[in-house]
This record gives sequence, C-alpha cells and structure tokens, in this order.
Amino acid sequence: MNAWAEFLNNNDKLIHKFEHYFPIYERHFKSYANKSLVFLEIGVGEGGSLQLWRKFFGPLAVIVGIDIDPNCKRHESPGINIRIGDQSDSVFLDSIIKEFGTPDIVLDNGSHIQAHVLKSFLHLYPKVSKNGIYLIEDLHTAYWPEFGGGIENPNTFINFSKRCVDKINAYYTRGAIQSDLITSQTRSIAFYDSVICYEKGYINRRNLTPKSRSSTDVDTVNSQRVFDKLCGRIDHQIDSIPIVTINYNTPELVGDLIGSLRNFYRNRVYIIDGSDDPEKAAGVRALTMKYDNVELIPFGYNIHHGPGMAWAFANLNLGNKVLVMDSDCTVLKNGFLESMVEHLKEDMYGVGCLTPISESGYPPKEGEVGFPYLSAVLMLLNLQIVKQFPLPTKHGAPMLSPMLTLHKQGLSHLLKNIDWVFEDLTENSAKRYIEHPWQGTSSRTGGYHLS
Ligand SMILES: C[S@@+](CC[C@H](N)C(=O)[O-])C[C@H]1O[C@@H](n2cnc3c(N)ncnc32)[C@H](O)[C@@H]1O
Repeated sequence: MNAWAEFLNNNDKLIHKFEHYFPIYERHFKSYANKSLVFLEIGVGEGGSLQLWRKFFGPLAVIVGIDIDPNCKRHESPGINIRIGDQSDSVFLDSIIKEFGTPDIVLDNGSHIQAHVLKSFLHLYPKVSKNGIYLIEDLHTAYWPEFGGGIENPNTFINFSKRCVDKINAYYTRGAIQSDLITSQTRSIAFYDSVICYEKGYINRRNLTPKSRSSTDVDTVNSQRVFDKLCGRIDHQIDSIPIVTINYNTPELVGDLIGSLRNFYRNRVYIIDGSDDPEKAAGVRALTMKYDNVELIPFGYNIHHGPGMAWAFANLNLGNKVLVMDSDCTVLKNGFLESMVEHLKEDMYGVGCLTPISESGYPPKEGEVGFPYLSAVLMLLNLQIVKQFPLPTKHGAPMLSPMLTLHKQGLSHLLKNIDWVFEDLTENSAKRYIEHPWQGTSSRTGGYHLS
C-alpha cells in the first residue's frame, strides 16, 4: 500500500500531514510494511493518520496512538489502539511499552513543544528496537517561540539533533566528544524540511582492506554484503530471523557461537538450555547479560537436541523463517545467512547440508538406497512448512522422523543442499562461513543418545 495514494483517496477521518512528508515515510517506513511490528504515533488528532498506518503497515502490525486529549479515545477501533496520556510523562510512556511491547517505529506528531519532543525522545529512543525508526515531524516549530523554539536556543530538537551528528562521529573526535547511546545505536540521522528521522542500528566500525585480485567470487559477494550493511542497506528480513540453538552443559561453546555471530549479526538468539550442572547453567545465564538480544530458556535437565528444537518450534514466537545452529558452530564471516535466505524459497521445508540416510538413522549401507537428511547443525527452515510434518525427536539423527515422512510422501524436493554448508560441515574441509568441530558437543556430553 502506498501512503500517498491512501492520503489522496482518504474520505474518512481527517489526516494532518504536509504533502512532502509522504516521500519521507515511503523512504523510512516502507521496508516495515507487512512485517510484524509495533508502531507508535504520538498525537492522534482526528484519528485519520492511525487509519492510514493501519492500512500502510498491514495486518501483522500493532498500531498504537497516544494523545493527551481524552476525546481522542473515540477514534479507537479494532486494530487501532489509543491510550490517553502526556507524551512528556515517562511513567505513561513506560506503561505503553509494557502493554504493547518494544516499539519498532515511533512517530512524534504530538504537542510540538520542544521540551516535550526532547523528553519523549530521550525516554523512548533507547527503548526503540535495535533497527527501529524514530521520526519527528512538524519541527518548523523548533524556530517558533510559542513552542519553546528559537534559532539560537540550544534546547530545540533541531539543535539537539545537530549535536547528535557529532555524537555519531564521536569515535573520531580524539576524545573531544564522549560517545553515548546515540553513537552506539544510531545508523543515521536524516534532516528534512520540518522532519528529522533517526534510524537505529549497530555500526560495525571495522576498516575494510581492499580485496586482492585473487579474491574468489564468493569473497566479492561477501564484501558487497558487508558494504551494503555499512551503507545501511541492511535487509530487515535478514535481521529479523531468529536463531535457535540447543545447549547441554557447554556455556563456553554457546559463548563462542554468540560472540562470533555478533561480529556480523544482531539477530535474536534463543538458547534452549538443558544444562543440569548448576555451574554450567550459570555460565549460560551469564551470556544473556554479556550479549544483547539473547533469550535463555532454561530446562534444568537434558532436553536433548530433537525435543529442544521441537519445543522451540512449537512454543516460541519465531515467525516463519528460523535458523537452527548447533551450539558448537562459530561464524567466520558475514553473509552466510543472506546466502541461506537466497536458497530458501517460500514453499520449501529447509536448506542446509543434505546427506543420504537410512531409516535406521545411519548412512545407508552398501546396496541400500537412502533418502535425503537435512543436518540440524546448520539449517534455515520455513516453520509454516516444518510444522506440517513430524517435529524433530530424541534421536542421534534428530531430523530423521520429518525427513522420513518427507521421503515417504515424495516431498524430499522441499529440501535443498547448499554447497558451502555441505563443505563447511564436512570434516577436514576448507571452511567458508562456519566452523563446526566434528561431533563437538556430543563428544563432550556423552554421545548421541540414540533412542
Ligand atoms: C497535529 S495533531 C495529530 C495529528 C495526527 N497525528 C494526524 O497526523 O492526523 C496533535 C495531537 O497532539 C496532541 N497532544 C498535544 N499535546 C500532547 C501531549 N503533551 N501529549 C500527547 N499528545 C499531545 C493533541 O491533543 C493533538 O491531538
């Protein structure tokens, strides 16, 4: 849906927007359309803009408007949540987050009083999701005294934002400017006529060395991906893929996995932890403090690989695509997730490393015809399809049951082998993206528990 077309054709509630805001919305909001997100608008007015956002962001979005005027409650309708309160009241703002969750986009079109705009921003910005957007409109008011504005007034939101430009570059000021949350969590600040838009995001401030002539094609593709990320052309679809890993008493391995992953990706990681040794369990818990966006599900007993995955697929709010990684994997290079996403078409079960297997769960014996088995060490899945088949089970080959069913139904073509995944998971091969010690976890924790 196009916000501008909707604005032009709107015969419903009044929308208060300048024309030139629409290309700005298109630029900053478009990639969120039809995704699951929490959108918060400060200032409901006549209720028209919330109707617009409801249509623009689509059915998965949670749309919330807040306003100080109790009359605005009348604009509430199914799919449009309105709460009454003051945008400069941090307790009220926290109650909104508590009720609806972390906002992905905040649009401030409220009082336009500079002190209010700044107060809401300082309180909400740290709480907006890591790749979220904070957009403030009608900032011409920053030049008008009746809104607390003035060209020389250091407390207007425009003058505050000018200083944030230096904050983004704090690392290069040789100590003159202290880095802060703006430095560490802001990818860009865009200034427009009457509008400022903050784009949150982690910046990997590494110096890239130019590629030598001998680079392989894969390296060229990879460096292009790194470049795209640094340019802010990141794909929200990639960043929003959750990662599930099952652990048993090996905090050091999960630590290496997440540490190496965080060199390149900020994706949410779910640790399904079956550690039954209290010291090891505490070690795993400590990782949730050390790394951002990590959620621990502690079982306190060895849930095993297959049941751990099955539990995660059935009980966590994972969305459709999910990446499963063994806790003894380490990530060597950026771009592996993008590559896997490229291979996984919407109607497929999953992609990764395919090897032949027999019904007993072992490689086929000579003369025996096997069927394709998707290794659970590293696989990207479409959960909607996965859930139509038996879930993984407690078995040395935890994917055996779904693989056998796919095979018997003639559906093994819903699986795809990716050459580099196959290579990376092969013992003694040259690794491209992922290092995986052969039988790393099972050798530490007493075997495969075939049953
Ligand atoms: C320009 S209107 C919003 C228009 C609407 N977003 C649209 O685009 O159609 C501004 C709204 O901000 C509300 N407002 C004023 N001061 C506020 C405050 N301190 N906290 C929350 N809302 C406030 C007003 O009641 C008014 O409804």
